[in-house]
Amino acid sequence: MSTAPAREIVRARVADDGAPIGIAVIGAGYWGPNLVRNFQNSASFHLRFLCDLDVDRARRVLGSYSTVEPTNDLAAVLADPTVDAVAVATPAGTHLDVAMAALRAGKHVLVEKPLAATYADGLRLVTEAEQRGLTLMCDHTFCYTPVVVRIREALHSGELGELHYLDSVRINLGLVQRDIDVIWDLAPHDLSILDFVLPEGVHPVAVNAHGADPIGAGHSCVAYLTLQLNSGAIAHIHVNWLSPIKVRTTIVGGSKRTLVWDDLNPTQRLSIFDRGVDVAGPEELSEEQRRDVLVSYRTGDMVAPALAEREALTNMIEEFATGIWTGRPALTDGQSGLRVLAALEAASRSLANGSAMIPIGDWA
Ligand SMILES: NC(=O)c1ccc[n+]([C@@H]2O[C@H](COP(=O)([O-])OP(=O)(O)OC[C@H]3O[C@@H](n4cnc5c(N)ncnc54)[C@H](O)[C@@H]3O)[C@@H](O)[C@H]2O)c1
Repeated sequence: MSTAPAREIVRARVADDGAPIGIAVIGAGYWGPNLVRNFQNSASFHLRFLCDLDVDRARRVLGSYSTVEPTNDLAAVLADPTVDAVAVATPAGTHLDVAMAALRAGKHVLVEKPLAATYADGLRLVTEAEQRGLTLMCDHTFCYTPVVVRIREALHSGELGELHYLDSVRINLGLVQRDIDVIWDLAPHDLSILDFVLPEGVHPVAVNAHGADPIGAGHSCVAYLTLQLNSGAIAHIHVNWLSPIKVRTTIVGGSKRTLVWDDLNPTQRLSIFDRGVDVAGPEELSEEQRRDVLVSYRTGDMVAPALAEREALTNMIEEFATGIWTGRPALTDGQSGLRVLAALEAASRSLANGSAMIPIGDWA
């Protein structure tokens, strides 16, 4: 096992000759081909290999005329000096082994969400990457959509005021997974979005989870997470594989404005409502009024901001390239992957403990 810090070698080579980053994608199942397409379209990368245990699957994804090499030999890919970085799109249970092997071979690593199957495994990857000076990034895809970037701006700039609540619904007739429940399958999206958009100093401190398995799948197919934030705000996440209709809606309520994101409405994904509830402060009230809290309703304009339509994965892989070239941690680095894992593990503990509220130790 080599312990030489590989970043200097790889970065110098990439930066010095201006050549694109040599990349291999591992996993040619449902998601891997999306990475393949984006790496092939990017001037920052040169896709060298597509590796899958099922080499015929890799071959089918690449087609007959590709110069990218299909293979099932991960060791050979990792031994190839033209490969500077690896993107891991295999099932979560394999992320530790594949990503660790890549890091130990001196490669920069992009891992699909969730970063690993457990917090402890994720921490091993983060530690290994740090010790070797390599870029480790987690594909929290939604954080690279123009709409989520706009939501982040709205919360960070104070446009929404103080965050009161966030409510996210992600339901569909989804593929019932055999190895993970609906929380581990879908909630990484909502948790990573939450991690990305929350203003400085605001973070979840505890979570409880309710789940149901009405079809006997062996784990929850419908689940509700409630997160308490250190600011007193609340976040709720509803994930469901059994809904006959698809809903992807997030509401972010602030003291000044409320934002509604409907991801299934491309012509108006985002609406910002100048509507809300004002409660008069005690100093403004007479003694009689103070007995009944004085609530007044504001109804103002609604604005639908224009948003660029750019594929999130295009932005995501350019962030990976920038991380490799500059050494700056990616927006969704290993630490953000760990925060999501901390919340997922706390949610699982809650499910196993009668939906008790469980502290999320390592978010802050
Ligand atoms: N970012 C997103 O929006 C998004 C969406 C879907 C899936 N994902 C993630 O992508 C990953 C893959 O999911 P999927 O739905 O494509 O899974 P999948 O089961 O469709 O495909 C996984 C592929 O990996 C291959 N594989 C497994 N172990 C391997 C190994 N050790 N070496 C080489 N190949 C191996 C399998 O043969 C299979 O072809 C998961 O982590 C999932 O959470 C992310």
